[in-house]
Amino acid sequence: MAFDTHFNSLLIRPDILNRFEFKSLFGSSNPVELELGSGDGSFMLQYAALHPETNFLAVERLLGRLRKVDRKGNRLGLRNVRGLRMEAAYLMEWMLPPECLTGLHIYFPDPWPKKRHLRRRLVNDFFAVLAGRALVPGGRIHCRTDDLDYFNQMTRVFDSAAGFVRGVEPLGLLEVKTDFEVSFNAQGISTLHGTWIRLKEANEEVNSTGGEQVMA
Ligand SMILES: C[S@@+](CC[C@H](N)C(=O)[O-])C[C@H]1O[C@@H](n2cnc3c(N)ncnc32)[C@H](O)[C@@H]1O
Repeated sequence: MAFDTHFNSLLIRPDILNRFEFKSLFGSSNPVELELGSGDGSFMLQYAALHPETNFLAVERLLGRLRKVDRKGNRLGLRNVRGLRMEAAYLMEWMLPPECLTGLHIYFPDPWPKKRHLRRRLVNDFFAVLAGRALVPGGRIHCRTDDLDYFNQMTRVFDSAAGFVRGVEPLGLLEVKTDFEVSFNAQGISTLHGTWIRLKEANEEVNSTGGEQVMA
């Protein structure tokens, strides 16, 4: 798959009729982690700088926010980051090959608190099926939100999804905050977070500890 990037830009314009070939996208076979709804990249850029051995794709539908990812990523000289303007649901269903991700980050997705809007939430039962397909065995999905009802939904979805068990965040991950998180925490609103691991087989048993809730 050819990737049409502008000179010196981290933003990509892939052929949307084909699934990604991450090796040609990043120019390396390093593991790939994806962030959906990355905003202006506050989390991803910090985390990518700490993990040059991993490639990161930031997915966001607002172009202005992605342009900030591009500017800041270039300023930091990050070679392991790309940005993509796309609807997360389309990306998950149509652009990712099976077992291509080692990590999937979803931080402060729009909570859609009104009852009539609940089905707009990104994390739902079908999303768990797509996440299970995209992650390698042992790959992890990391979720954060300030919204208790959405956190309960995330927990129900992944606790009941075939092929996932609860895990803990890798060392250092929770210290890297998103923009929304910094702002919420400054107002005294705590971060709810959970991690789930994709098993090799749906019935595989793994020793794992529970997802946690913390006051940041
Ligand atoms: C509440 S903000 C959180 C941004 C960032 N994750 C943070 O914590 O600072 C949610 C972000 O997700 C993006 N977004 C919402 N729905 C999306 C979708 N379906 N596909 C891609 N991006 C989406 C929004 O444009 C927004 O930037």
